[in-house]
Amino acid sequence: MRHEKIIVLDFGGQYNQLIARRVRECGVYCEVMPYTTAFEEIKAEAPKGIIFTGGPNSVYGEDSPQYTKDIYDMGVPILGICYGAQLIAHQLGGSVETAPVSEYGRTEVEIDDKGGLFGSVSDRTICWMSHTDYISRLPEGFVATAHTPVCPVAAMENRERRIYGLQLHPEVMHTVEGKEMLRAFVKDVCGCAGDWQMGSFIDDTISAIREKVGNGRVLCALSGGVDSSVAAVLMSRAVGKQLTCVFVDHGLLRKDEGDEVEAVFGPSGSYDLNFVRVNARQRFYDRLAGVTEPEEKRKIIGGEFIRVFEEEAKRIGAVDFLVQGTIYPDVIESGLGKSAVIKSHHNVGGLPDHVDFREIIEPLRMLFKDEVREVGLKLGMPEYLVFRQPFPGPGLGVRIVGEVTEEKVRIVQDADAIYREEIAKAMDAGLIPKYGEEGTPGQYFAALTNMRSVGVMGDFRTYDYAVALRAVLTSDFMTAEAAQLPWQVLQTVTTRIVNEVKHVNRVFYDCTGKPPGTIEFE
Ligand code: XMP
Repeated sequence: MRHEKIIVLDFGGQYNQLIARRVRECGVYCEVMPYTTAFEEIKAEAPKGIIFTGGPNSVYGEDSPQYTKDIYDMGVPILGICYGAQLIAHQLGGSVETAPVSEYGRTEVEIDDKGGLFGSVSDRTICWMSHTDYISRLPEGFVATAHTPVCPVAAMENRERRIYGLQLHPEVMHTVEGKEMLRAFVKDVCGCAGDWQMGSFIDDTISAIREKVGNGRVLCALSGGVDSSVAAVLMSRAVGKQLTCVFVDHGLLRKDEGDEVEAVFGPSGSYDLNFVRVNARQRFYDRLAGVTEPEEKRKIIGGEFIRVFEEEAKRIGAVDFLVQGTIYPDVIESGLGKSAVIKSHHNVGGLPDHVDFREIIEPLRMLFKDEVREVGLKLGMPEYLVFRQPFPGPGLGVRIVGEVTEEKVRIVQDADAIYREEIAKAMDAGLIPKYGEEGTPGQYFAALTNMRSVGVMGDFRTYDYAVALRAVLTSDFMTAEAAQLPWQVLQTVTTRIVNEVKHVNRVFYDCTGKPPGTIEFE
């Protein structure tokens, strides 16, 4: 089915994905394309509107990214944001210069003309600005529709040609009425009705999968994480028992996680699929014995994972399709290559070389994480699975500093289970914001430091391990700050861990941000 589409033309801005997400929140399908995309290709997409993103360059710089001016004559509405607005001004005959005063962050913008984008926006509205250049002269046919004390063109438009520019960033949360500005562009200016809904996505995807797979056999590596779980459920809805899910338990999962995954997807669970759980923990512990170097641990775990999966696939026999839980941010990051660099170690796992299959199916490749979660809920999956925090492929292997042993795995699993249990209670009691609320920790876990120290318990000397607790506020996992958890929660967790987990006599809270730390310990 063909949807109404908005194209976000990416000029290297850090908020490119955010713009696309906001447009999709208006119920309109949106794709990010690099500014190097051929004009013919853009035309072939028949977009209802085009949004130019911001970017780090100056439009008058030598190598500044530009686009063919023909785009302005397509007759399709265009909205330029920040660099995008400056590019419009520059290409259509206005002037852009270094601003006498730069504006960063929270800024009050005064609306001069409700125009096409500000119909239901307040006369004075708080916006997020981030610019050193500004539009000093409007191109012909344009009027300024908003200003700040130091920025005469905070917004401009040529209503007749349906070309709009915003110096402010409507896509970020801190622009209080930004969503309304984007809604006005997408709905009122571009005339989109809003036909992008997760319910119809599920129906469309299921019919497309059925058509593609026919009677074929499908194999899926299930990790228990959000993406692979939703992909598996969607596939099972489409092709039922033609799907086999292989779940490799590498013994580095959180406490009881293997059993939880089996309870949901296994024979007594609620899905129509073949489920194979491979208990490979001993194999991983043996391979990891004596290894302390983090990258080597990662390689061993990733490599062994693929080997186990391949062996299982061989046992199952030839399959036609392999399912991957790729989501849209992965597609954008690997496709555009410019604005984001993914850490190589995040790609552990990769594609098995020796599995015999015809084609890869990526049913979630056009979805953002929030949309994947929405699909999961619509498919009736349990909330604890759908809202699960990210868990690294190498699992507790990167949360145990130094050598991994069975005993250390047990320690970190028990400590982590207590920590998560107490955080859940604190969330229910309103002491810590829940998922979806402002200030909720995006990831929290216990790790085992390699440090042992002297303590005293019941009049006896102890010489035991120190557990570190971590909780971070982050939206993209590229940067993060330590969450300020209430002291009473940390105290309860500490007391419970030292009392209940054998061989732990000390608990630390990690106050480090990223950078300079990373979220995981290795
Ligand atoms: P770092 O530790 O790099 O983590 O700040 C950022 C995010 O990535 C996750 N992470 C991984 N995920 N394989 C994965 O699949 C890995 O090797 C890996 N290392 C880190 C981490 O949990 C956090 O969400």
